[in-house]
Amino acid sequence: MTIRVAVIGGDGIGPGVTEQACRVLEAVRGAGLADLEMTRFPHGADHYLATGETMSDETFARLRDDFDCILFGSVGDPRVPKGEHARDLLLGLRTRLDLYVNWRPVRLRAADLSPLKDARAADLHMEILRENTEGLYSGAGRVEGAGTPREVAYSTGVATRHAVERITRFAFQWAEREERPMAVADKANAVPHMWGLWRRVFGELQPDFPGVASEAMHIDALVMEMVRSPARFGIVLASNLLGDIISDLGTGLVGGPGVAPSANFRPEGGAAGAGGPRCSALYEPVHGTAPDIAGQGKANPMAAVLSGALLLRRHGFGGAAQVVETSVEEALAGGVRTPDLGGSSTTQETGDWLCRRISNHTATHIATRGAS
Ligand code: NAD
Ligand code: IPM
Ligand code: MN
Repeated sequence: MTIRVAVIGGDGIGPGVTEQACRVLEAVRGAGLADLEMTRFPHGADHYLATGETMSDETFARLRDDFDCILFGSVGDPRVPKGEHARDLLLGLRTRLDLYVNWRPVRLRAADLSPLKDARAADLHMEILRENTEGLYSGAGRVEGAGTPREVAYSTGVATRHAVERITRFAFQWAEREERPMAVADKANAVPHMWGLWRRVFGELQPDFPGVASEAMHIDALVMEMVRSPARFGIVLASNLLGDIISDLGTGLVGGPGVAPSANFRPEGGAAGAGGPRCSALYEPVHGTAPDIAGQGKANPMAAVLSGALLLRRHGFGGAAQVVETSVEEALAGGVRTPDLGGSSTTQETGDWLCRRISNHTATHIATRGAS
């Protein structure tokens, strides 16, 4: 079945790294490893500044109904200092499509990339799961007495039993299936309402998964342990803001923003699955638009490319995903690295190398099969 992919490059380095991810997906398709079709959308700061809207209702309806998933770059532009278009687009797509799981895998793709220069690095392998629809990202709040000495700003964190239960159950199920430990991070000691609910839900579900080594931890203790003994973690679940932050910590443990992919998705799948909209996922690098290096050809496209691999895997082309991931590892091992990883390759050169590698890999594979 053809996967229909909507492509939104966004701002800053987003379009450039997304273009390389598209070229890699195109190489995968050309090699007969996956069947997909990509359609470009222009949304981002330029579109917002030119039209005054982030995304029309018609476009949203097209994304929702005509596509299986979205491949996304990143959004955020100095010309929109309050970032309203970025929130509207990215947080808007996550919530309106109910992509309630944000999966941010932490994998070490070359041993020297970790700042942990001892045995701890060898065992780095975590799945960070971030609740993606509520928490401190609810948007609820107000400012009273703006600009006065008595100014007060409120931001309301929201946790619903429905949302906390479904993602906690999802995390437990993942841990059970993969036989990995599971930890959920909260700050229930200091913020009892929202994170108290998280802790209660965790306690209620825990007996359903007796085979899973699971624990609820305070976020401050968890981040310390993530650095000190990362190997003890398998599945790490957190609410929206905490998940955002710990996923960047995870990223820092394996080489930084240039190599960290993510998937936002609804596990029930698209319309062919358990109902709901057809579009069931948005794949994107964890990183942002990197204004400090935008336009210089220096951005590392690997995080975007690896997000493309997550896309392939979730939509039924696990073999193709493996080929892409292996090619990235071979590039890193062979010194094909952008400046963030100490190399001198450009964004384009890195993409060129990966595309060539994928085509050659397939040619070799076919030749070997033909000979046997
Ligand atoms: P950032 O991830 O854009 O940059 C942090 C640092 O990492 C910078 O030094 C940058 O040069 C570097 N970096 C990031 N991606 C890189 C890559 N692929 N290759 C090489 N180096 C890379 O985070 P920030 O500076 O906090 O945010 C910049 C803008 O991006 C802001 O507008 C922010 O809101 C937005 N942002 C968007 C997303 C998203 O769209 N998912 C995520 C994070 C930040
Ligand atoms: C991310 C980003 C976004 C988030 C910003 C740009 C709103 O940091 O995707 O991690 O906080 O979710
Ligand atoms: Mn983030």
